[in-house]
Amino acid sequence: MLTSIFGIGNMRKLSLLVLILCILISVKNQNAEIKKSSSSSKTAVKWPYSSWDSFPSVFLSPLTSMEDDDGEVSWHSNRSLEYDFYRDSCPEAERIIRRVVHELYEVNSSVAPALLRLVFHDCFIEGCDASILLDAATGIDSEKDSPPNKNLKGFDIIDKIKSEIEMVCPGVVSCADIVALAGREGVVQAGGPFYPLYTGRRDAMHSFRDVATSELPSPNADLSETLASFASRGFDLRETVSLLGGHSIGVIHCKFFQNRLYNFGRTNKPDPSLDTGFLNLLRSRCNDRMNMAYEGPGVDFGTLYYRSLLQGKGILYSDQQLMAGIDTGIWVRAYASDISLFPRDFALAMMKLSNLRVLTGSKGQVRLHCSKVA
Ligand code: HEM
Ligand SMILES: *[C@@H]1O[C@H](CO)[C@@H](O)[C@H](O)[C@H]1NC(C)=O
Ligand SMILES: *[C@@H]1O[C@H](CO)[C@@H](O)[C@H](O)[C@H]1NC(C)=O
Repeated sequence: MLTSIFGIGNMRKLSLLVLILCILISVKNQNAEIKKSSSSSKTAVKWPYSSWDSFPSVFLSPLTSMEDDDGEVSWHSNRSLEYDFYRDSCPEAERIIRRVVHELYEVNSSVAPALLRLVFHDCFIEGCDASILLDAATGIDSEKDSPPNKNLKGFDIIDKIKSEIEMVCPGVVSCADIVALAGREGVVQAGGPFYPLYTGRRDAMHSFRDVATSELPSPNADLSETLASFASRGFDLRETVSLLGGHSIGVIHCKFFQNRLYNFGRTNKPDPSLDTGFLNLLRSRCNDRMNMAYEGPGVDFGTLYYRSLLQGKGILYSDQQLMAGIDTGIWVRAYASDISLFPRDFALAMMKLSNLRVLTGSKGQVRLHCSKVA
């Protein structure tokens, strides 16, 4: 097997092999750790990297070889993002982002889901270019005015970070990098995995309201629609299942699943895929909104979400649909039972999400205020 892979002489295949080996070895080590210390097993099985310094460079190989098999780069980073892009121009930038998110999270943990969702909605529409942050203006159809973005939060957090950074190094750090990095800090604060991000994204001079309206996935989408939507951004089935684990945190307004409770598909009956007890729980608890983690925070970021799906207790139809396919169901089961697998997959998928179709070099601009073209 080794000779055939080396025989091809394809570096990308080699790096993939190394990545897989590394994951296997790390799973093995972690299993050993679980056996060693059953009492502290909860900490022992966490995704073990908490910063760039401890992150094995082998995990970065997907970042530097992100073309599709046919060499298509359009949806992916194209190697022009850099490690610590601001090391000379604004060395404080990443620390400021970490500190502000940390300080805000201490008083209001809702900042974490708000920032995570912002990354998804920015990057999914025309790439990670901060187009989501632009206010409507002459020539700007704001994505904020697109229906799927109506409840989006966290713009004030990005503005706060931006203004603190502007005081130290004006006009240098892009809003697109702030969105990606702040989202990562939110994930870490919420107990999710750290994942390293390259920087150097630039800000779009346009916002794409109509694209957002037609291309952000719907909570009423069935499995094939959801998979197709993520596949069009280069995510395979496994990556898609892991990304939806983002729904481990935050809140959800009842209007997004109201139809499941009373009149599903105009049948005047509830969604048959809903567990009966859960149906009653949703009916009684939901006035305006409810917590994604309705049973209280899970043992680990992610686990509760997948366990809920296994029990037919996913809140959104599109979430529960992950159990409607054999292949996606296998990954739901895997993430529900192996609590070290999800953080790893989620980290890698978030790295990919955060690098979608970035603007680099002389493209775009660095805004002075994140809601306005400079
Ligand atoms: C099929 C794909 C998806 C659909 C249909 C979807 C839909 C939704 C809906 C309807 C809400 C509730 C918003 C509200 O009530 O205010 C929500 C919240 C949220 N979504 Fe998604 N989402 C999807 C994928 C993702 C992904 C990939 C992520 C991140 C990796 C994500 C992260 C979040 C977070 C963190 C919240 C909570 C926001 C908060 O509490 O501030 N979603 N999503
Ligand atoms: C907490 O943070 C969220 C997200 O930024 C925000 O929408 C909400 O208003 C904040 N709550 C309070 C009490 O400040
Ligand atoms: C990749 O980077 C180059 C140089 O900055 C840029 O010209 C090109 O448009 C970028 N491609 C994509 C897909 O972002």
